[in-house]
Amino acid sequence: MTDDHSAPAFPFPRTCPYRLPAEYAGLRESEPVSRVTLPTGKPAWILTRYDDVRKALNDPRLSSDRGNPDFPMLVEIAHSEKDSTLSLAGMDAPRHTRARRAVVGEFTYRRMEALRPRVQDIVDACVDDMLAGPKPADLVKAISFPVPSLVICELLGVSDADRDFFEDRTSRMLSMTLPPLTRQKAFLDLQSYLDELVTRKEKEPTDDLLGRQIAKGRDSGSYDHDDLVDLAFLLLTAGHDTTGNMISLGTLALLERPELRARITGDPGSTPDVVEELLRYFTITDIITTRVAKEDVEIGGRTIRAGEGVFALGGSANHDPEVFENPGELDVDRGARQHVAFGYGPHQCLGQSLARMELEIVYDTLLRRIPGLRLACPAGEVPLKNDAAIFGLHALPVTW
Ligand code: HEM
Repeated sequence: MTDDHSAPAFPFPRTCPYRLPAEYAGLRESEPVSRVTLPTGKPAWILTRYDDVRKALNDPRLSSDRGNPDFPMLVEIAHSEKDSTLSLAGMDAPRHTRARRAVVGEFTYRRMEALRPRVQDIVDACVDDMLAGPKPADLVKAISFPVPSLVICELLGVSDADRDFFEDRTSRMLSMTLPPLTRQKAFLDLQSYLDELVTRKEKEPTDDLLGRQIAKGRDSGSYDHDDLVDLAFLLLTAGHDTTGNMISLGTLALLERPELRARITGDPGSTPDVVEELLRYFTITDIITTRVAKEDVEIGGRTIRAGEGVFALGGSANHDPEVFENPGELDVDRGARQHVAFGYGPHQCLGQSLARMELEIVYDTLLRRIPGLRLACPAGEVPLKNDAAIFGLHALPVTW
């Protein structure tokens, strides 16, 4: 792709938490595969139709290899930082298939359900702390970030005492406004902590995800220390900001819609449908499903040339009226299961059962335990996270 400086700047901001960027609807109609200019000044393609997005995410000619110098990035990343994002999410088949097979058993629905009582305890403890603190409270600080952080710590066998460290470093690392050196420092801090954690578990076996991966890898003769550190790092970052932002946005939507709230409190069995529709509606990971073409690929009548970058926009796909009637409406009865909020194809979210469970427990618990929970500022003043790769809220002031 030649540099086309007339191509619009991407990403497009969201001006309201309930609306995707206005540009998507027009592009889906007139130019569903179109060119944009990234903040780095480099060109890329964006896909806005559901069918094209699914096709792209399932096409082995479109690579997830973040080590490829042509991989489209939203921010310039120092080379050493790039190397570490090569775990799972940044691999292609056949290496990806092998690596995913080795860990997928840790994320089955059954294994996640076994974690449910522990996740409930974590959520209850965070709610207790919030209720014991001053009003109004910031729900992002009290619930949205500590809950996924504690759940990941539980999963990896990290002590609760380190959760503040993880939250701080993860949000710095994922920021799109901090200088590259600050982000890189946060990344290096996290990486060395996890390196030490894995080393400890190599010496003293533990029955948690990392401990079992070490034992399994040693049994099969395929154990690699650095690969496990990279995987731990990926799980931390992939499961933290995503789930946290969905907690914030979903809670905002529930507080603003008394009918939805009544539905959950009247029939807790309906919460999974609410979660599914909220995932579709917000699609916070809209701009992270990124690929680079390894060879020429035709999509939606356009040719993406080898070396060109592609953003398969999950949010736009999930609001394609060809697939979801009245996509701008939050309709919990629509049966939204075919959404692509967790991606599609070989890289589809590994932690989706865990994420669904966390969201169900948080929404149910907040509404059941705090019937008077309400926003402590006008909805229009809630600060949106348009400066990060994963959409969300910077803060959610609440009172009760
Ligand atoms: C609401 C919460 C979440 C959302 C919306 C979400 C979304 C996504 C999406 C869209 C992808 C695909 C990326 C791509 O195709 O390039 C993905 C991949 C992934 N997610 Fe999640 N995720 C969530 C929570 C989690 C959690 C809790 C974990 C684990 C603790 C997790 C672990 C992963 C991993 C390991 C991958 C890479 C899988 C692979 O490449 O094979 N995610 N996620």
